[in-house]
Amino acid sequence: MNATPPDKQAALDSAVADALALIDQATDAQAIRAAVNAATGKKGPLAAVKAGLGKVPDLDARKALGQAVNEAIARVEQAAHGRESVVKRAAFAGSIEADREDMSELALRTSARRGRMHLVTQATERLEDVFVGLGFRIAEGPEVETDFHNFEALNMPPSHPARSMWDTLFVDQDPQGSVVLRTHTSPVQIRVMQEWPPPIYAVMPGRVFRKETPDATHMPVFHQIEGLVVDRNITFADLAGTIESFTKAFFGESFTSRLRPSYFPFTEPSAEFDIRRPDGSWIELGGCGMVHPRVLAAAGLDPEEWSGFAFGFGIDRMAKERHGVEDIREMYSNDVRFTEQFS
Ligand code: DAH
Repeated sequence: MNATPPDKQAALDSAVADALALIDQATDAQAIRAAVNAATGKKGPLAAVKAGLGKVPDLDARKALGQAVNEAIARVEQAAHGRESVVKRAAFAGSIEADREDMSELALRTSARRGRMHLVTQATERLEDVFVGLGFRIAEGPEVETDFHNFEALNMPPSHPARSMWDTLFVDQDPQGSVVLRTHTSPVQIRVMQEWPPPIYAVMPGRVFRKETPDATHMPVFHQIEGLVVDRNITFADLAGTIESFTKAFFGESFTSRLRPSYFPFTEPSAEFDIRRPDGSWIELGGCGMVHPRVLAAAGLDPEEWSGFAFGFGIDRMAKERHGVEDIREMYSNDVRFTEQFS
């Protein structure tokens, strides 16, 4: 008989079983190797059985036992290899999971909660469209402006009483008072006349600044759109006709406009214009008039050759009216629940 003695076989089996249990529990390559070494290393149970080989007198029996030891080692190694590949795959899957980007927020933003253009931006773009349709070009000027462009060239020399029509924010620059945050878009008229040879048909939207405490109808920062026409033989009838065409194009055929006498230093005569809603109520929109000869001259144009008209009005006010916004401050609260109501 070449069979391994039952006690030795039992010792081998239990050593293998212990090693397999440890390998099964191991979660990384290091723990697997430790389990293998515990079973097959010099001080392990398999080595102990092996050490006893020399004491087996029968050659065949010795061979059989040696083979049984080798088989036991092979089973442990095989289990270790199997476990190693499982652990390796799990580690890879774990690293993929860890690197995963969570795109769900992005998906939410692009589908459910898309951004909206601000009411004032929407109104500005519509105004530009309408005026471009009437043959106007669009121009822009700086928000930080010289006293010359904001006041002096608009026929308001230093200390002119009309300057008090605008509560001005000054920039701390020498000489003091020479630089302001523009109080209206009218200075862009001067810049356009200085740069573009007439005939000029231009609208100039932009941000303006005034020293005001915010309330339901006022903001210290708001928006205006300026209009300027300079050509030969321009009359007040051209101004009235343009305002009326704009009113119908922007508000609709059922709206009309009217002009009321007023005063602005840069126009003569000057007027304020109102828009009449279909229900008969009026919205005060802005100011207008024939460009004062001194303004043409200040911008370098010959008032004998050229004449023109100008107008200017608040965009925020108009957007507020159009959408029935109660308090103008709401338009600047940056609350999406407000913005989402308009698209
Ligand atoms: N700039 C004036 C304001 O802010 C509005 C204005 C009035 C503009 C008459 C004009 C104009 O171009 O002709 O109150």
